[in-house]
Amino acid sequence: MEFKGRDIISIRDFTREEIDYILRTAGKTEQMEASQEQLNLLQGKFLGITFFEPSTRTRLSFEAAMKKMGGGIIGFGEPEMSSVKKGETLADTIRVVENYVDALVLRHPMEGSARLAADFAEVPVINAGSGAEEHPTQALLDLYTIYKEKGQIDGLEIGILGDLRYGRTVHSLSYALANYKVTLHLISPPELRMRREVFWDIKGKIQVEQAENVEDVISRLDVLYVTRIQKERFPDPAEYERVKGAYKIDGELLAKAKPELIVMHPLPRVDEITPEVDQTRHAVYFRQVRYGLITRMALLGLVMGAL
Ligand code: NCD
Repeated sequence: MEFKGRDIISIRDFTREEIDYILRTAGKTEQMEASQEQLNLLQGKFLGITFFEPSTRTRLSFEAAMKKMGGGIIGFGEPEMSSVKKGETLADTIRVVENYVDALVLRHPMEGSARLAADFAEVPVINAGSGAEEHPTQALLDLYTIYKEKGQIDGLEIGILGDLRYGRTVHSLSYALANYKVTLHLISPPELRMRREVFWDIKGKIQVEQAENVEDVISRLDVLYVTRIQKERFPDPAEYERVKGAYKIDGELLAKAKPELIVMHPLPRVDEITPEVDQTRHAVYFRQVRYGLITRMALLGLVMGAL
């Protein structure tokens, strides 16, 4: 399977076979990393980081992944530090930065931004979040987390809870899961229901059920994926005020869950999972961060032709 030179813009650009191949490559990368094997596969290569929106995990994990593989990074974590501040367009910024690097990671508030960047760049472009649209590398690390923690993806009942309207991670994850034999429970207050285009796309492929309260479905779930309400994407602050605090995962709720339920979260969390949950066997969201590092190492190795 050929990944060298490929863009990662939408998870929909990948077949199940390709996704499974990426997950297997992540598995091998994890073993290499654990056995301290020679990981200098990307020596002499550079990754460009162009982030026009805040980030902790995504940016740091791409940087750590690149350095662990022996490569270098350049770029900016906020547009204030670049010529964007002087009025340079995204297309120009991309056409400049690509001269210094072997691949580019872009995070941008506009939908369609990553696709636009890929149209202008010769080097592979990796979408690290395009507005409320997609976040494909997060979906891949989410799948890897499920695979590692549950041993398989097929056959699971998976709940996705929270801001299904503005959350890009849940859009990419839903598209990705539509390749597997899963039952998907979309759980949200009515105001935050799944984006229509995503809903109709996945509905024809897998069993999809909608619920307003997590209490109603918690006992059936093998995986519960919790998300933050994307306050910054609400066009109207009053709308946010109406839905904030609409759901909470705590010990009382989890008492009704299967003992082997795993609770995931792309992070950052605000108040949707209480800290008491961190100590329970259900909580995998901090391990998920580590799986993210591994998955991004694998992805960089693949698109740069080293794995
Ligand atoms: C997410 C994002 O940026 O979309 N964070 C991440 O990459 N792990 C989720 C969020 O901001 O809520």
